[in-house]
Amino acid sequence: MKDRIEEYLREVESFKADGHEKLEEFRIKFLSKKGLIPGLFADFKNVAAEERKEMGQFINKLKNEVQEKIVNLKDQLDSSSESTSSGLDLSLPAHGPMGTRHPLSIVRNDIIDIFARIGFTVSEGPEIEDDFHNFTALNFPEDHPARDMQDTFFIEKDPDIALRTHTSSVQVRVMETTQPPIRTISPGRVFRNEAISARAHCIFHQVEGLYVDENVSFADLKQTLFYFAKELFGEETETRFRPSYFPFTEPSAEMDVSCNICGGKGCNVCKYTGWVEILGCGMVDPNVLESCNIDSKKYTGFAFGMGIERITMLKYQINDLRLFFENDLKFLDQFKSSY
Ligand code: DAH
Repeated sequence: MKDRIEEYLREVESFKADGHEKLEEFRIKFLSKKGLIPGLFADFKNVAAEERKEMGQFINKLKNEVQEKIVNLKDQLDSSSESTSSGLDLSLPAHGPMGTRHPLSIVRNDIIDIFARIGFTVSEGPEIEDDFHNFTALNFPEDHPARDMQDTFFIEKDPDIALRTHTSSVQVRVMETTQPPIRTISPGRVFRNEAISARAHCIFHQVEGLYVDENVSFADLKQTLFYFAKELFGEETETRFRPSYFPFTEPSAEMDVSCNICGGKGCNVCKYTGWVEILGCGMVDPNVLESCNIDSKKYTGFAFGMGIERITMLKYQINDLRLFFENDLKFLDQFKSSY
């Protein structure tokens, strides 16, 4: 009898019901009047007195397992028929994280993180700017070509209100309201009246950096940007400075990093030079400090500005800038981040 019960227990354990009918057959087989369990109780009469206690417990165990199995399977069948009728099964496990960050957000967050580690805060300014914050306070001469309709989307004329053409306008806003020491970066969207192509867009993103204090030197600028390049692109990254011109910095420079696609050997991304330009920078022109009511005899500072699209293209080897704006899931799904 013991062997029979053990066999039934195994059968109960492995039983699966794909519908209520199957489950009812199972119930009848074990529990109905002529079922297996009443059969066992009937045979119980013939069990020897010394085995009765153990055998009785054994039959009861089988009975309990059968009843429990029926309740559980019924629940399962009921809930799956509910969910299939609404076409939605909320009890199914999810396929990993449901979304991913946009590659531009990942790189922007990386940049913020790198500068936060050396004490830079984040500041923001408006996307619609007046002429003073976008140009005049930044030492742009009255007749500078960047003020032309060609480059700038004007919203109103006299006084000029426009979509900001760079995040350098946020420098001005920070300096107007804060006295040094200032150490901040300003990520944001900028707008230029440019034809859309694989390398240019009329909307793109920049990060501006500004550091103003007593005795800030060009050496501080270089050291900060060397650190940044290595943190972002890797320890083996080489950097170089080339002299340049911006109205708001003097002296000005552009920084190149060794091409991380060919490792500096030369490829079509770096136009076979081994170097790619990633940012403009320089010492803040004293005229700019004075426009923002900061004493240029007491304080000096450096500033830099970089395009997030360009850096993201380099970091992830993306060859067409338009991909960032198309929201094609096949493209976006490839990017994963921890934040
Ligand atoms: N505003 C410049 C641009 O949009 C980038 C830039 C260059 C910002 C040099 C700076 C700087 O702060 O010092 O091209």
